[in-house]
Amino acid sequence: MNALQNSPRDSATTAQTKVLQLQGISKWFGDNTVLKDVSLDVMSGDVVCLLGPSGCGKSTLLRCINWLEEPSAGSVFLNGQCMGIHKGGMKMNDTNLALMRSRIGMVFQHFALWPHLTVLQNIMQAPLYVQKRAFDQVHQEALELLERVGLAAKADVFPSRLSGGQKQRVGIARALAMKPDILLFDEPTSALDPMLVGEVLEVIRDLAGEGATMVIVTHEMEFARQVASRVVFMDAGDIVESSAPEAFFSAPKTLRAQQFLSRFHGSGSSDPRAVD
Ligand SMILES: Nc1ncnc2c1ncn2[C@@H]1O[C@H](COP(=O)(O)OP(=O)(O)OP(=O)(O)O)[C@@H](O)[C@H]1O
Ligand SMILES: [Mg+2]
Repeated sequence: MNALQNSPRDSATTAQTKVLQLQGISKWFGDNTVLKDVSLDVMSGDVVCLLGPSGCGKSTLLRCINWLEEPSAGSVFLNGQCMGIHKGGMKMNDTNLALMRSRIGMVFQHFALWPHLTVLQNIMQAPLYVQKRAFDQVHQEALELLERVGLAAKADVFPSRLSGGQKQRVGIARALAMKPDILLFDEPTSALDPMLVGEVLEVIRDLAGEGATMVIVTHEMEFARQVASRVVFMDAGDIVESSAPEAFFSAPKTLRAQQFLSRFHGSGSSDPRAVD
């Protein structure tokens, strides 16, 4: 099911399904173990904000979810289907992996738009060439998505002509164009001028309101507090706390989370990396 057509938080009768399941994910680079047996379930409509100090493995975890990094151990299930590996245990070839990956929308810190393609073409690439969907429908949907992120007037311009906030909104529209089961955001606002952060957070907030299933790595604590249905705190490659946002921010259970939050509050900065 397309997460974006599903609004479980609007309806007490909608049963939540398990969209993403991480089972014992470990990742090591040589003798550096970066993720240690991480398990996590994300249900439809969940907005999981993934927090933690710099270097604790947040980006690596997101990259393992869509197999941009192949996990060293453990499994990723997307709506029950094992990522990267067929039922019989054979590894997926690049085509099958790309198809499965296309069900996971990824929004990067540095936008990663194709500079030689217009905004509209950027959005239409994956639906046309990975998902092999019909041009007219993809075109129509791309225009609607641009409308939705407030950039209808920019359809035919190249990314170099956009502000950082506009680029990131195109990045979000591009991720949505694949009708993903889940959206992953890796610090979507940390490369932006502070003036432009709000417009991007607003789009993500709207998606949360519409019931999209999302995992968001962010250093925007106030945003996490408002938008998360659950806060997952990582430290040194491990999930050490998973709580409702109010509980996490007002009474973190672990010493490490307490330290993380108090250093952040004490710094007067909106970015706790400033004090790591
Ligand atoms: N391709 C790689 N090869 C070797 N080491 C890597 C690789 N990718 C990540 N690492 C290491 O994994 C650790 C975790 O990095 P990661 O980028 O996941 O942290 P993070 O929590 O996202 O940090 P930040 O908040 O600064 O973005 C770091 O020690 C990093 O050097
Ligand atoms: Mg990171």
